[in-house]
Amino acid sequence: MPSLFSPLTLGDLTLRNRIVLPPLTRCRSEQPGNIPGDRMVEYYRQRAGAGLMITEGTQIEPRGQGYAWTPGIHSEEQVAGWKRVTDAVHEQGGTIFCQLWHVGRVSHTELQPGKQPPVAPSAVAATQVRVFIETGPAAGILTAPSEPRELTTAEVKEVVGLYRRAAENAKRAGFDGVELHSANGYLINQFISEHTNFRSDEYGGSPENRLRFLREVTEAVSSVFGSHRVGVRFAPLFSSTDEERVYLGLVESDPHATYIGAAQLLNELEVGYLSIAEADWDNSPEMPESFRAALRETFRSPIIYSGRYTQEKAQRMLEKGWGDLAGFGRTFIANPDLPERLRAGHPLNAVDHSSLYGGDEKGYTDYPFYSS
Ligand SMILES: Cc1cc2nc3c(=O)[nH]c(=O)nc-3n(C[C@H](O)[C@H](O)[C@H](O)COP(=O)(O)O)c2cc1C
Repeated sequence: MPSLFSPLTLGDLTLRNRIVLPPLTRCRSEQPGNIPGDRMVEYYRQRAGAGLMITEGTQIEPRGQGYAWTPGIHSEEQVAGWKRVTDAVHEQGGTIFCQLWHVGRVSHTELQPGKQPPVAPSAVAATQVRVFIETGPAAGILTAPSEPRELTTAEVKEVVGLYRRAAENAKRAGFDGVELHSANGYLINQFISEHTNFRSDEYGGSPENRLRFLREVTEAVSSVFGSHRVGVRFAPLFSSTDEERVYLGLVESDPHATYIGAAQLLNELEVGYLSIAEADWDNSPEMPESFRAALRETFRSPIIYSGRYTQEKAQRMLEKGWGDLAGFGRTFIANPDLPERLRAGHPLNAVDHSSLYGGDEKGYTDYPFYSS
């Protein structure tokens, strides 16, 4: 029976345990330029005991940014900053993937080059989310995303190329692989969902067409790293009430069919892992067991589950055979030595919600390691 502490083979990599640092946006890059600096190096170094670390969402191009102070991987300075992060993690024997992020319509003109509208599959605004911007009188204040502009077909193909370039940059920065952020209503998710994609070209319409952008981006980044070093993150949402249905403005009418179809595609493309972000708020809808079983049946490589996992819940998930790795988000933020604490049964620090997004060392690199 696998335990959270058994090693796992991921393509040609051996992960030392099944505890994952999932992608966690912390908005602490150096300004100007959204560059990983000393604080970020220290934050990731502290958490290198994970079997697999995924960076916070990292924009592949300037238009891909939706929140102030998130890091990018499109400039030489950013690549150099990330190289210091990966070196620090590798010195500790860790494994780290970069989460490639393009927010699409979930942005504000204040964050966009030339204060242009954000770009998206279709010109449909995200009404249920808030972003925060760094300039002007509204600095740091949550605000509604701006009305987006629809990408032309040629521009969609250019964005695929930008993902490839970001993967090349990630490779030069020393990452072990990349994860595509295809969850939570961001660009790839906007192509997949029938609520945000009204295109009449080959990227819209049928389920196959709505998955085409994901397919092309996956192939593009796989050409750089090899498909086994590419992971993809989805957040299939199963809900029963109207309030839940509007989460990020995106709930598939048939999430089972959509995401089992997507998993089939990614299985064919032989990607290294699937990461499933479960709904993680109070009273959030449960993911049906029938979906977990179908996913396991469809996708042959490792599956990561995240969303309010405890050691016990993770162990149950492994024993059921639904997944192979467990992500601990807020718990890992508050406990840099989480794998060791879980192994030894030590008590856990509580997370401070007020310092999650932005700020300095406080609530970032100053959570204590266990001491008896
Ligand atoms: C502060 C914070 C930032 C997050 N940033 C990202 C992100 O950049 N990319 C992503 O895919 N998920 C992101 N998530 C979702 C987490 O990866 C994870 O799925 C979620 O926190 C549930 O796990 P938990 O209940 O163990 O915290 C974020 C969550 C939090 C709390």
